Amino acid sequence: MNKENVYSVFTPTTPARLTFVERDDVNTKLVNALRIPGKQIVVYGHSGSGKSTLLLNKLHQLYEIHLTSRCMKGILLEDLIIDAFDQLAPYYNSEKSEASKTTISAEISQDYLSIKTQIRKSNTNEAGSKSIRVLPPQLTPQALGRFIGQAKSCWVLEDFHKIDEKERARLSQIMKVFMDMADEYPALKIIAIGAVDTARQVVEYDSEMRNRVAEIHVPMMKINEIENIISKGGELLKIEFDQNLIKGIGVYSNGLASICHHLCLNICTTSDIYESLDEKITINSESLNRALSLYLDESSDTLKKAFDMAFKQEIVKKYDNNKLILNALSELPPDGATALEIFDVIKRYEQTYPRGNLTRFIGKLCTEKEISVIRFDNVSGKYSFSDPIYRAFAQFYFKENRLKKSGDNIAFEIFFEHFRNNLNKGLTIKLVDL
Ligand SMILES: Nc1ncnc2c1ncn2[C@@H]1O[C@H](COP(=O)(O)OP(=O)(O)OP(=O)(O)O)[C@@H](O)[C@H]1O
Ligand SMILES: [Mg+2]
Repeated sequence: MNKENVYSVFTPTTPARLTFVERDDVNTKLVNALRIPGKQIVVYGHSGSGKSTLLLNKLHQLYEIHLTSRCMKGILLEDLIIDAFDQLAPYYNSEKSEASKTTISAEISQDYLSIKTQIRKSNTNEAGSKSIRVLPPQLTPQALGRFIGQAKSCWVLEDFHKIDEKERARLSQIMKVFMDMADEYPALKIIAIGAVDTARQVVEYDSEMRNRVAEIHVPMMKINEIENIISKGGELLKIEFDQNLIKGIGVYSNGLASICHHLCLNICTTSDIYESLDEKITINSESLNRALSLYLDESSDTLKKAFDMAFKQEIVKKYDNNKLILNALSELPPDGATALEIFDVIKRYEQTYPRGNLTRFIGKLCTEKEISVIRFDNVSGKYSFSDPIYRAFAQFYFKENRLKKSGDNIAFEIFFEHFRNNLNKGLTIKLVDL
């Protein structure tokens, strides 16, 4: 039997292949949309819900090749078009295209090479001056569509929500052009992905396109899906995670597969397991503490940054809105609470707290661009901490703060020490309400 490397089995920061579990509730919708000629696709859902992984695995099943462009703040549509164009080079390079299974017509190949020469020329002219990428006039959306279509490929735009609003609206024009080319190139389509709550926050398209764009929401993972990842990984490495351990990891992951992968990886490496074992062994729940301790070390900077940002928000009128919200949420169950439930807890501390403040500030907390402390799941309608360690910190912070007003920086340090001590004593379970 093949020996697997632990880092290719548990993949906290890259799309899962070996432990990929099918997402029954979104699979059919996504596969149908991929198969319908001309259908453009928007995939959306909370960061870490599994959008890239799901799409990648489905594209591998349905497409021979696909192009992926990653978006960042400030990037222009022109940059993305050139990026896609560049990625097509292997298919239009005359020697390679003969070998490739896809037949590329000589005429299109010629067009491609001539545009390529022009891009190169304009880049050289701009050397030294501020470089703004100008598209050669021939590189129209139609031309790009033809190049992608001939290669029987599609174009994935990762993190499309990060680019400016104006650029987002321009993408819908390209989608429209691609739709109209579906007759000739049935596989041609754009798939825009965004870590947001609605498809419209990813691409702004008008009502005439409504039926021709599939909006696919990828929800957080269900507990049985998370447990599937653990057992798939265990089988590959010949490890049996005992039932309590599986349950612990499952609850702790709170719908986020990335945390599950992280903890499983930490469990293996702290047990000196780096590849498939020759003989099966069983690992029990004691190893979860070591794994969590390591996870805390790895995530302490992010935790600090996330809370620093949330705590720094201005105090409006007499209310320290963010702290009131985070305090209330930390008193509610780990899987989260509705706005009304949070409001009820806040009122215990501030009887006249206005509901409007809650709506406004909780919305901001969820959409913080860099790291958001809390997230909203629009299937359950609940808000919850983005990471269970954040919840543990909030519980600790507000409790400590009521006792003595320690500075925020010191609070982080005391928390990390306290958490670690508890882990060493085997008290994790209590701390995170497992
Ligand atoms: N279906 C799945 N089976 C197994 N593991 C998965 C699955 N989906 C996601 N994961 C794992 O979860 C983590 C996050 O997944 P992914 O990167 O796909 O999320 P995302 O929604 O694209 O996040 P972001 O918005 O931050 O890009 C990765 O570690 C990945 O390996
Ligand atoms: Mg992604």
